Amino acid sequence: MPRVLIVHYSRTGHTARLAEVLAAEIRLRGCDVDTEAIRVERDWNRWLLPLPLLPLLPLLPVYLTSARFRRVWHRIYHQQEQAIRPLAIPDVSAYDLVLLGTPKWLYLSFPVARWLTTAVGLEGRRVAPFATFCGPPLKVFEMEMLFEPLESRLRARGATVVDRMAVSSNYHPYFFFGEMERLFRFVSRMAFKRPLIDFTLDGAAGQAEVRRFCDVVCPRNRTDQACKK
Ligand SMILES: Cc1cc2nc3c(=O)[nH]c(=O)nc-3n(C[C@H](O)[C@H](O)[C@H](O)COP(=O)(O)O)c2cc1C
Repeated sequence: MPRVLIVHYSRTGHTARLAEVLAAEIRLRGCDVDTEAIRVERDWNRWLLPLPLLPLLPLLPVYLTSARFRRVWHRIYHQQEQAIRPLAIPDVSAYDLVLLGTPKWLYLSFPVARWLTTAVGLEGRRVAPFATFCGPPLKVFEMEMLFEPLESRLRARGATVVDRMAVSSNYHPYFFFGEMERLFRFVSRMAFKRPLIDFTLDGAAGQAEVRRFCDVVCPRNRTDQACKK
C-alpha cells in the first residue's frame, strides 16, 4: 500500500481543515496516510507577520504585469522563516508521496519555509504542495506568487513536484471590518464571474479541485506501482 505523508502548517485553522479533507480523500483511494502538523516555537503577533512582506508592495504593479520581473523577484526576495518545534517525522524518505500544505503569506508561510530547510529525505520524493488563501485562484497574484517560490525550493531539495492545489478560505486576518474579504469577493466576481464562496471547501469549484488533485496524486484505480511512479 502506498505511503503518503500529509504535512501542513496552519495559523488560523483553514489549511488544517483542508489537510483533514485531503487525508480522508486519499485514504478512500486506498493509501496509507500519516500526518504532521508543523507547530511554531512562538506565535508572532499578527501585525508583525506582514513586515517582511512589505518590500513587494510598491512593486506590485510591475510584479503583476511582467513575467520577467517575477522570475527575477522569486530568485532574490527574502523569504522569512519562523522557528518550528521538533518534528515528529523529520525524515520523509519512507514515503511514496508527500503533500505539503501552507497558508499563503504573500508567498509561502514562514514556518513552512523553515520546514523546507529542516526536513530530510526529500531527495527523489514525489511532493505535491497545497494551500489556502483568502482570494479566488488568481493565476498570478495567488497561484504563481505562492507556488513558484515554494516549488523551486522543493526542487532545490531534490523533490519532484507532481501537482499543486489551492482553495479559498474566504478569510483574511487584516484589517478590522473584513475589508480584505470584501475586496477578494469583489475580485472573484470580476475575474471569474463567480462568488468567492464557490472556491472554498464548501463550494462546488473548491470541492472539484480537491477531487481533481487527489485523482492526480493518488489515482482511484491505480496499482501500487502506478501510485509510486
Ligand atoms: C501575513 C499574511 C499574508 C497573507 N497574504 C495573503 C495573500 O497574499 N493572498 C490571500 O489571498 N490571502 C493572504 N493571507 C490570508 C491567508 O492566506 C488565509 O487567511 C489562509 O487561509 C489562512 O490559513 P490558516 O487558517 O491555515 O492559517 C495572508 C495572511 C497573512 C497572515
